[in-house]
Amino acid sequence: MTAGTQARVEILSHSDAAGKRASEIVATTVHAKPDAVLSVPTGSTPLPMFAHLISMVERSELDLSRVELFTLDEYVGMAPERPNSLTGWLIQEFLNPAQISGSRRHLIPSTANDLTAAARAYEAELANLGGLDLAVLGLGPNGHIAYNEPGATAESRTRVVELTPGSLEQAAGYWPEADPVPSRAITIGVGTLLEARQLVLIVTGKSKADMLARALNGPMTSDVPASWLQQASDRLTVIADHAAARQLG
Ligand code: PGA
Repeated sequence: MTAGTQARVEILSHSDAAGKRASEIVATTVHAKPDAVLSVPTGSTPLPMFAHLISMVERSELDLSRVELFTLDEYVGMAPERPNSLTGWLIQEFLNPAQISGSRRHLIPSTANDLTAAARAYEAELANLGGLDLAVLGLGPNGHIAYNEPGATAESRTRVVELTPGSLEQAAGYWPEADPVPSRAITIGVGTLLEARQLVLIVTGKSKADMLARALNGPMTSDVPASWLQQASDRLTVIADHAAARQLG
């Protein structure tokens, strides 16, 4: 099935099947290029994909030890050791069990004094490795990809952004502690992501159905940052479960 764009849309029965399918795409990329440059999202959506990838690594069906992994976003001022760090979470949930070692982890800068310079250096680090071979993304309830919030342009690069009230509320749901969620994040840009040779957007659950339809079938607009992914045309694969795909028509 194809949506209004040339993106390939694959609809799976449930979130675990979607995660398995996404893991197969990652595995295919890494089998073809063992030192592939990848990014993966944080959040609840990628957990089934992580589980399948980790299980492939444990069964020696997949070696992720040579991939170069770029993280997508982090709260400003947040060190990976802190309990609510997105980076720390990704290290625990995926990078450690997937055996992606420290030297191949490219962690988006979040504590530098000069975050503008650090963001530029992060882009240069990615460019030096040839850019992203595969960017795996999730879809935020407000249409964000990474932390490219509404207002993000298709040309945006790695930068500091203000989080919207909706994203702060979403993030607060993951924070067991009473700490307030930082109001700013640093995120890889939409333009940076659109340069990836392949992109995978994983979307599961009925709460994302309306936003997924707007992202794929609506106009390309900064109001829905994920809609810029239409520009990736056939480099984009959307993997959705039935619940998320039900408004695609
Ligand atoms: P979720 O977050 O996977 O926890 O729904 C997705 C996102 O905000 O990108």
